[in-house]
Amino acid sequence: MSGKKPANKAWGGRFSEATDEFVTRFTASITFDQRLYKQDIRGSLAHAHMLHEVKLINDDEFRQIKVGLASILEDIESGLFEWSVELEDVHMNIEAALTAKIGEAGKKLHTGRSRNDQVATDIRLWLRDEITDIHTQLIRLQNGLLDLAEREAATIMPGFTHLQTAQPVTFGHHMMAWFEMLDRDKGRLQDCLKRLNRSPLGAAALAGTTFPIDRELTASLLDFDGPTANSLDSVSDRDFAIEFCAFASLLMTHLSRASEELILWASAQFSFIDLPDRFCTGSSIMPQKKNPDVPELVRGKTGRVYGHLMGLLTLMKGQPLAYNKDNQEDKEPLFDAVDTVSDCLRAFADMIPAIEVKADNMREAALRGYSTATDLADYLVNRGIAFRDAHEVVGKAVAFGIAHNKDLAELSLAQLRAFHPSIQEDVFGVLTLEGSVSSRNHVGGTAPEQVKKAVAAARTMQSLEK
Ligand code: ARG
Repeated sequence: MSGKKPANKAWGGRFSEATDEFVTRFTASITFDQRLYKQDIRGSLAHAHMLHEVKLINDDEFRQIKVGLASILEDIESGLFEWSVELEDVHMNIEAALTAKIGEAGKKLHTGRSRNDQVATDIRLWLRDEITDIHTQLIRLQNGLLDLAEREAATIMPGFTHLQTAQPVTFGHHMMAWFEMLDRDKGRLQDCLKRLNRSPLGAAALAGTTFPIDRELTASLLDFDGPTANSLDSVSDRDFAIEFCAFASLLMTHLSRASEELILWASAQFSFIDLPDRFCTGSSIMPQKKNPDVPELVRGKTGRVYGHLMGLLTLMKGQPLAYNKDNQEDKEPLFDAVDTVSDCLRAFADMIPAIEVKADNMREAALRGYSTATDLADYLVNRGIAFRDAHEVVGKAVAFGIAHNKDLAELSLAQLRAFHPSIQEDVFGVLTLEGSVSSRNHVGGTAPEQVKKAVAAARTMQSLEK
């Protein structure tokens, strides 16, 4: 085709030679942006509706455009549509198909519009739908955590700092910690949606249009909260995609942390939980292996989502107003971030309710690690000893326990009193795991009673949201 004018191109008028074959492929986005076909058609229908309303197209033209777009949608969904790389992107593919189907009326659709505001609209519409799905998945996962937390509100496990046994906590409390992380993620997602939900349509190429368009009308037809305020900003802004990836990155941070804990807990060394076989795979060489692939993959996939956030930030850095072709690079990272997050949420939401808790092993581990040492120090403080002195006394008792291979609760009253005369028979009440957790009975504490309250409060919030 070289040497010939690109007659099939919407912008071919001012060109005297055809586009280089490699450049055609290099500049095209059709291989990935065809994913926006539904939103592109929806946006075109709203635009045509508005053109008709302000009398830029007549009744018959509007009708033909509607019929034509509906049949294109059908062709695409039944796999009959032929995407052409020559036509560069989803917008020009659909517009060319429309003109091929209905003739002159098809050529009028692009009045008062540019691909710049068109793509900005499409991608917002697309992300808005995806955000709704992701929101639903997040809630499903959160509800799974609430059920598990409630069921295991009184199940005792060691709590860790520095991955060393610190104090006993309840497993339900641990699940509620995950719930809280996700709840903040949900807030960030909702926040992203609020700013995203404005219509760029009508900004045209960059400066607006000379036609008497009605931007309020297209915004409301597309269920946006209203039109964007500045045409230059409208066609160049990709903040919403970056915000989504920032949300996604933090969500993945949280899922990777939960994954890491599940992996540790499922190991033979911890043996706190069992992951059902359907979420694990085996080894081709070691017959005994059962690998926690699902949480490992979630942990691993976190990296690509961070990468997309960094990619999009760098894509926008230093870009002059208004639209630049650079922005075509926004789609693949955004699509992949959405797909990754959706899959990971789904995997987690399916897996959480199926976790089998090995309460006896958790309890055993909590008993082994001197996890009630702080309780003994607090006991002494309640009998008038300064905390620093109490800390010292208990440190010595722990050293004695280690030397004799006994936990604090296993020492006799006489042995304990050797460290401080204020210690009485009632000390065993605080040295038990149950005594320890149930005495942390305040908002945000690990007591089973508080866990149940936190679950109930969270359930109320969840039900208000829907
Ligand atoms: N495929 C383009 C993109 O994704 C659509 C907008 C093209 N606009 C232009 N002036 N070349 O950004």
